[in-house]
Amino acid sequence: MRMYDLILKKKEGAALSKEEIQWMINAFTTGEIPDYQMSAMLMAICFQGMNHDETLALTLAMRDSGDVLDLSGIKGVKVDKHSTGGVGDKTSLILTPIIAALGVPVAKMSGRGLGHTGGTIDKLECFEGFSTSISEEAFLKQVSEVGVAIAGQTANLAPADKKLYALRDVTATVAEKSLIASSIMSKKLASGSDAIVLDVKTGNGAFMQTVEKAEELARIMVAIGNSAGKKTYAVITDMSQPLGNTVGNIVEVQEAIEALNGKGPKDLMDVVYALGYLMLKAAGVAEDENEARTRMEKVIASGKALDKFADFVEAQGGRKEQVYHPQLLAKAAITETITAPEDGYVEALNAMAIGTACMSLGGGRETKESQIDLTAGIRLKKKIGDSVKKGECLAELYGNDAAKCNDAKELVQNAFLFSKEPLDAPETVLKYIT
Ligand code: URA
Repeated sequence: MRMYDLILKKKEGAALSKEEIQWMINAFTTGEIPDYQMSAMLMAICFQGMNHDETLALTLAMRDSGDVLDLSGIKGVKVDKHSTGGVGDKTSLILTPIIAALGVPVAKMSGRGLGHTGGTIDKLECFEGFSTSISEEAFLKQVSEVGVAIAGQTANLAPADKKLYALRDVTATVAEKSLIASSIMSKKLASGSDAIVLDVKTGNGAFMQTVEKAEELARIMVAIGNSAGKKTYAVITDMSQPLGNTVGNIVEVQEAIEALNGKGPKDLMDVVYALGYLMLKAAGVAEDENEARTRMEKVIASGKALDKFADFVEAQGGRKEQVYHPQLLAKAAITETITAPEDGYVEALNAMAIGTACMSLGGGRETKESQIDLTAGIRLKKKIGDSVKKGECLAELYGNDAAKCNDAKELVQNAFLFSKEPLDAPETVLKYIT
């Protein structure tokens, strides 16, 4: 086979065969196909797209380019959850102990934050001593014994995707739905769970800015997961404003702990319960949404979910007292307040702008190598639909560098838009794809 012929074939709009895709991914991973040829192929895919069979073949070839975790030694249906990335999205921290407390094992691989979006691994590292680089053996043992383990992605998980993603990033070929779907699903399938639940975000803080585009991506990923033999469900959720009231690592951990104490804000808890319902359904332990929600509410009210979270933090080397006393987590030196410039109602709260403000406070990475300040963050006091009086607090900013705080202040102030007319808060759970 010659890469030149495959590029020409895709450029002219024909479908590539499974064998051609397998050959291409293998040869690209070993370095036989140079970046310039793969870049041309990626651009051709952006213009011509890929059908289901091509996207599935690409996903499976990338899954098989590295290690595929074997979780069969752990009893029960192992369910994984993945979000396409958002601002203020701390659902994994709340959801995984709830699901584990209900007896469904959770073996999860998570990533770090990049750009304006956060990542679960950074949040977990807010607990002193917490380690996400655990051996495969320790990971499996912990899932069996504690019911939940979360690790960083191993270096050899879908290495073809890593190489391809780096190329997409610099050739303006990230935002194509079959490429996004195969990239996400190759890693999910390599992580070894029996079932997968996807949270596909839509809105200005998300990859897919309209509900229609998010649904298209969700349907492609669900079809791939099911064709690969894993029960896969998705939910489309709103990311037109940050999820919950905090953005930043330590403040999000504190909000997750409040949620596990039964005090989570409605928009956040609606997403947690929607994903939880799909995880319990995928595990075969719940069919009815109301019944699933009642069971989740019960493990929060009884304190079982919080205890499960504390046991999980301790099992991975973290300080358990910080779960029961989140005020023991580190604090930033500077607090700045943003106030309302007029009376009215919050009409918009730009998620991307808030995520960028958090990054400029030091709480996010501009490149994969950036060091982050875990104490930097934003606490939102007002969200869409809330009434405000001139001079009232809209948000608090936390940081350790006065110049960075000043830059972030302006971004946060400009993220709010006001209306004189009252309006409803947006729904966060928009559609199930099951
Ligand atoms: N996340 C991924 O892992 N891959 C993509 O292509 C987009 C988001």
